[in-house]
Amino acid sequence: MPSPLRPRLAAVLALSLGVFLAVTALAVRPASAASTLNQLAQAQGRYFGSATDNPELSDTPYTEILGSSEFGAITPGNSMKWDATEPSQGQFSFAGGDAVVNFAKAHNQIVRGHTLLWHNQLPGWLTSGNWTAAQLTSILQNHIANVAGHYKGQVYSWDVVNEPFNDDGTYRSDLWYNTLGTGYIATALKAARAADPNAKLYINDYNIDGLGAKSDAMYNLVKSLKAQGVPIDGVGFQGHLAIQYSFPTDMAGNLQRFADLGVDVAITELDVRMVLPADATKVATQAEYYTNVVKACLTVPRCVGITIWDYTDKYSWIPGVFSGQGSALPWDENLNKKPDVYGAISTALGGSGGGGGGGTTSCRVAYSANDWGTGFTAAITITNGSSAISGWTLKYSYAGNQTLSQGWSGTWSQSGKDVTVTNASWNGTLPAGASTSVGANFTYTGTNTAPTAFTLNGTACT
Ligand code: XIL
Repeated sequence: MPSPLRPRLAAVLALSLGVFLAVTALAVRPASAASTLNQLAQAQGRYFGSATDNPELSDTPYTEILGSSEFGAITPGNSMKWDATEPSQGQFSFAGGDAVVNFAKAHNQIVRGHTLLWHNQLPGWLTSGNWTAAQLTSILQNHIANVAGHYKGQVYSWDVVNEPFNDDGTYRSDLWYNTLGTGYIATALKAARAADPNAKLYINDYNIDGLGAKSDAMYNLVKSLKAQGVPIDGVGFQGHLAIQYSFPTDMAGNLQRFADLGVDVAITELDVRMVLPADATKVATQAEYYTNVVKACLTVPRCVGITIWDYTDKYSWIPGVFSGQGSALPWDENLNKKPDVYGAISTALGGSGGGGGGGTTSCRVAYSANDWGTGFTAAITITNGSSAISGWTLKYSYAGNQTLSQGWSGTWSQSGKDVTVTNASWNGTLPAGASTSVGANFTYTGTNTAPTAFTLNGTACT
């Protein structure tokens, strides 16, 4: 007969060993200072990735970081594009893309394939041909069958279509649209599904991170593709941001409305540039932009991950394209972590900051209701976080039984349970730490439960 004592003894031993290990771990590793960006993202059910490019793969100090646990996903910056993969018609070249895939495999990283169809980096034979619609359709289908077919089972996702829209939300007039009309998008997606049924198929674009004409156009496209049964699994929000422009409007709300269509969303090419030289004020704003992006992604359950467009200024595309701008990434040109920027990303992912610095604070909202049984006056004071804003949108939700009758000091609207307040003309500019108050009258039935979660310009407030 087994001794009833033994399991208990084992449990006590295990417990004390566990406590001992926990105490030791605490003593050796205070808080979560040792967690890397991808480890933190993984703890939130996401990945954190970086773009890379083939010339950089021979830079050993660079690849040591790229292959470390900081990154769980890799995107080839150039080597899967059309000019690299089909430089002559029907002649495919996969050496560059294969090198990136092999690097990722060797370091347990997933690959975001980028990109099967774009208006840039097309080979001369393709752009100079005078193709009929039928010819171009078959060229497109053949390219995708070969490239996505070659990487079948090896990529997590494909940016099947890259940058289909102009900033005003009209279709970009390029080879594809001009020859094939909007149908090229469905043609490309169907060809990709046929070539690699398990890859997540994305459409990817820039300046769709917040609400606006361009993201509306993408939203309508995805909605109509879904309605037609065209295969589409995700939308990529490039996230090429610049601190001299305001942060995208309601990024979390924007990501969520796409997710509500039944697709994944991902931040695919994040970098936050500034006009050089960098200074403490610019870096603080930049850190806040990174924080806001990470928080927006974490707010949306279907936001699967974040990729930065290379991790170091040493290999950033920004200075070459945006003259006089740069310093856009969390690692500097010497491959050192920038404490403020890296720290902001780490902190937003739930870590300890892992490099000191940071120190951004988020918005605060104080809510009170003066209730008379069938109605109430809501008084809300918004206190801005550590970066000045010009223009704001506050969002929160009620239980569902409260109805807006009239608001003031801002533009109030309600859609079902959700309330949105945008600034009035005179209170849109809020310096760091500044406050403003708004109010509204509501009617209600039943119980008047106070809202607890608020976002300001897409960022959760405390
Ligand atoms: C960039 C690469 O990083 C550069 O090396 C190249 O010279 C140009 O393209 N949006 C995209 C990416 O979808 O493919 C672009 O990458 C950056 C903008």
